[in-house]
Amino acid sequence: MTDAFARRQNGTADPASVLPGSRILPVLTVPSATTAAPLAEALVAGGARCVEVTLRTPAALEAVRTMAAHGGLCVGAGTVLTPEDAERAVEAGARFVLSPGYDAETVERCRLLGVPVMPGVATATEVQRALRDGVSTVKLFPAESLGGPAVIAALAAPFPGMRFVPTGGIGPARLPEYLGHPAVAAVGGSWMASAALLESNDWAQVRRLTAEAVAIGERGVS
Ligand code: 3PG
Repeated sequence: MTDAFARRQNGTADPASVLPGSRILPVLTVPSATTAAPLAEALVAGGARCVEVTLRTPAALEAVRTMAAHGGLCVGAGTVLTPEDAERAVEAGARFVLSPGYDAETVERCRLLGVPVMPGVATATEVQRALRDGVSTVKLFPAESLGGPAVIAALAAPFPGMRFVPTGGIGPARLPEYLGHPAVAAVGGSWMASAALLESNDWAQVRRLTAEAVAIGERGVS
């Protein structure tokens, strides 16, 4: 790691500090505020430690608030598209921020707020920009459409200090391959709490799919 890289990292809260214990990140698009509490229970029962609540529904900020208050989860906000989104999410209790794409102003606002940020990247140009902006972990999105684990291997080569959180189209079958790369900080996805499962309040299945993913994640670590 170069001095410049270390300096920039020091200027930005490190997402590694909020992704402890588990390399599995359920991505949650919560349809209603009442869904948040039983969803949090099911995820915790399945062994989840961190979650991403996307700001894609009117209930999202309330869901962040409820799930953060649960206490058993480190709750991040996803689909954060603007600096104002980041402020609202942090005010609601989000402890980290993710974006689908790269927005330097949002990254800068997160730095000022002191909240770890994982902006989205899909190209080497964006990873390079993130590195210059002091970002240590990026979200690779949409990972499967971009080419999957092979893309991470290709991007990790010129950017050895960068860590990746791939999301987009990933399911349990591909988890071991993603987790097998040392540059992968965590793998995200909605398959553990899909729209259909949330619609039907199928908490048993959310718990089961989460536990399955967490077990794969733990095997990947050892
Ligand atoms: C995200 O925002 O990370 C994605 O919507 C998650 O992708 P998936 O729904 O394909 O898992």
